[in-house]
This record gives sequence, C-alpha cells and structure tokens, in this order.
Amino acid sequence: MKKSSDNTIRLLLVDDEDCFRMAIAKRLEKRGFFPIQASCGEACMDILERKPVDVVVLDVKMPGISGIDTLKAIRQKHDRIQVILLTGNIAVSDGIEGIKAGAYDYLTKPVEIDHLVNKIKQAFEITRLEEENIEELEYRSKLEKKIIDTQRLVSLGTMSTGIAHEINNPLAIINESAGFMKQVISAPEMVDFFRKDDLLKGIEKIEKSVKRASKVTHQLLGHVKKQESQFSEVNLKTLLDETLGLLKNNLEDKHIRIDWETNQQGKIRKEPILWSDPYQLRQVLMNLLNNAVHAVGKNGVITLSNYAVEEDIVLEIQDNGIGIPKENLGKIFDPFFTTKSFDEGTGLGLFVVHKIIVDLKGDIEVESTLGKGTCFMIKLPRIIKGKSEK
Ligand SMILES: Nc1ncnc2c1ncn2[C@@H]1O[C@H](COP(=O)(O)OP(=O)(O)OP(=O)(O)O)[C@@H](O)[C@H]1O
Ligand SMILES: [Mg+2]
Repeated sequence: MKKSSDNTIRLLLVDDEDCFRMAIAKRLEKRGFFPIQASCGEACMDILERKPVDVVVLDVKMPGISGIDTLKAIRQKHDRIQVILLTGNIAVSDGIEGIKAGAYDYLTKPVEIDHLVNKIKQAFEITRLEEENIEELEYRSKLEKKIIDTQRLVSLGTMSTGIAHEINNPLAIINESAGFMKQVISAPEMVDFFRKDDLLKGIEKIEKSVKRASKVTHQLLGHVKKQESQFSEVNLKTLLDETLGLLKNNLEDKHIRIDWETNQQGKIRKEPILWSDPYQLRQVLMNLLNNAVHAVGKNGVITLSNYAVEEDIVLEIQDNGIGIPKENLGKIFDPFFTTKSFDEGTGLGLFVVHKIIVDLKGDIEVESTLGKGTCFMIKLPRIIKGKSEK
C-alpha cells in the first residue's frame, strides 16, 4: 500500500450501529479526520480491496462476520493496516483476543473521542515508521548493489587497461608485417606468384581482425596519451559542441536533431565550468552520443541538458530511440556487452564511460523505457580534491 502523500490518516470506521458510527464519524471530522464508513465486516473487506486505508477502527460485536474474524482477514490480506478494536465494556476478553489476533489496541465503548484520536495517531505512526523502514532498506540494498557493481567494474577496468597495453604492441607489429607482406606480394615481379590471390585474401582478413582488436584497445586506453592525465578548466558545453562537430556528418545524414533543454526564459541553462580531464570527458561524450545516434536512427531527437547543482555539474543526454529492455539495464556497463553486430560495436563504450566517470569521482545513472528512449545522467564534481593545481 502506498503512503498518503500529505501524511493525512486514511481511516475506515466499521460499526453496525448506524447512529453510533455516524456520531463518532462526525466528532472525528471536527478533529480533522474524514473516515470512510462501513456497517459490517464484509463491507469493510470490500472497501479495503478498493481504497487505500491506514487505520481501521473496528467494532467487535457485529452481525455476520464478527469483528475478530474481520480482523483476522485484514491481517491476512493487508498486513500494513493497523486495527483498533471497539469492544463492549463487559467484553474485555474480546479485546485481549483481538490483540492476540494482531490488533494494534482496543478501546471499550462508550468511547472517549480524544482517547480514540490519540490511539489512531499512534497506530498511524507505526504504519509510517514501518513504511520508512522498508524504504530505507530498499534504498540501502540498491546502494550496496551499486557499490559492489562499481568495485567489480573498477577492478575489471584496471585489468583490462593492463591487457590492452600488452596487446597494443604485438598488434602494431602484426599490422605492420601484414602491410609489408601485402606490399611484397603486390610487387610487379610477383605477378605469377603461386596462389597470390588467396594469400592477399588471407592478409586482408588479418588486417580486418587487427582493426577490430585495435578498436578494442583504443577504446580501453583512450585517445590519450602516454603521460598522466592532464587536468584543466573545462567548459562542458564547449566540449559537447566540439564532439557534436565530429559527429556532424552522421547527424546530418540521418536528419537527427539536437535540442538543448532550456529554462522558462528560453535560455540555455547556466554553463557550468569544471576542473577536470578534457580528454577523458571527450571520450565519455563521444561514446554516449554515438550510442544515442545509433539508438534514434533516422529523424531522431537527442536532447542535451547541462546545469550546476551545488558543488556538482550535471549533464543529461536524452534520446527518443529504441530504449533498453529492463533485463539489459544491469548489463550495459559490463565489458563486451553489446546488442550490435560484430562490425558495429565492441560493447566497451559504456564500460569505458563508467570507468572514466568513477576515475573523475562522478556518478552515472540511466533511465530507459523500451520503445520511447533513454536518458543518461552524469554528475561530476566541479573540482576534484588534490587535482586543483595546475
Ligand atoms: N542510448 C541507448 N539507447 C539504447 N540502447 C543503448 C543506448 N546506449 C547503450 N545501449 C545498449 O547498451 C549496449 C552497450 O553499449 P556500449 O556503448 O557499451 O557498447 P556498443 O555501443 O554496443 O559498442 P561500441 O560502444 O563499442 O560501439 C548497446 O549495445 C545497446 O544495446
Ligand atoms: Mg557504444
């Protein structure tokens, strides 16, 4: 059951004596409660199926299904609803039986209204605390999962960068040697060389595979640079414009529109400047925009939004593309996870994006609806401690 949005207590008053029930309801209304009313256990259960209720005030002695049996049915079907029983003053044992069956408390008739109001508030407080507890537990388990995922990806990142370094040199040698062999076999004096065409085909296969493997190492090692990453002042909006410039032909060919999300005055939101690594950030933008372009296809729209929140800057890249199925959402940051063909994707783009964002002490989130689109949200600190000096 969902919490009431403004913490008002949703109350159900169940009593077969109409006069008594209406009198109590009227007095409760004067104190700010607006109880729904039911005149028997069956009507009570029917209402609980259809309407959200926090607390039930329930008469024990009723014709048809008794108060205690109604209470038991509530406990079975609606475990978060609290029940306060109303018993006749000669039937205190009913109240005790009710507590054993899971009632919050019982009051004896005739009811003192302020006493009832206090009991209702206390019962509601229990419901509220239980719901907060559940929300807290859900939040914690989500956070723990995210921490475990991040640690796993960080160690995979370190390992894969090491492997990429190792593979890069032999790849360059294979590529160079393949080129050399091609040159030798293509020379005029080799015109009658035995099975020349088969050899050339073989060399081309080597070159194609090297190209694919280079794409992998290139992605893992970044566009950069043998030396330590260079921090400088970065205007993310300018960096986005530059990256979009590199994609210009692709965007124009596919008639993809880029929208900047604007505020009420029709201006682009404040341009946040941050102290960060522009090379790594460019790779992040490139990978995310490439994915968005691929997802939207012809005539798609990509919406960019870039703003400051306290000490962080936020960038949102929203597309109206194919979306990501729920079952894939937990896998997209894993290395080599791809839904694209061998020639189209390596499955490393988002893995690298995640690695860079974690390196830069930021955070990345994704929301997606299948068939409607995807939004990647990145939060980056304006300044990373210890990286602020030139
Ligand atoms: N904006 C998006 N819309 C829909 N699906 C997406 C989007 N971004 C990523 N994906 C899904 O996540 C998968 C992994 O993305 P990632 O960028 O890591 O690899 P890739 O795009 O497949 O390959 P590469 O980045 O090497 O070209 C994609 O194959 C795609 O299924
Ligand atoms: Mg990609």
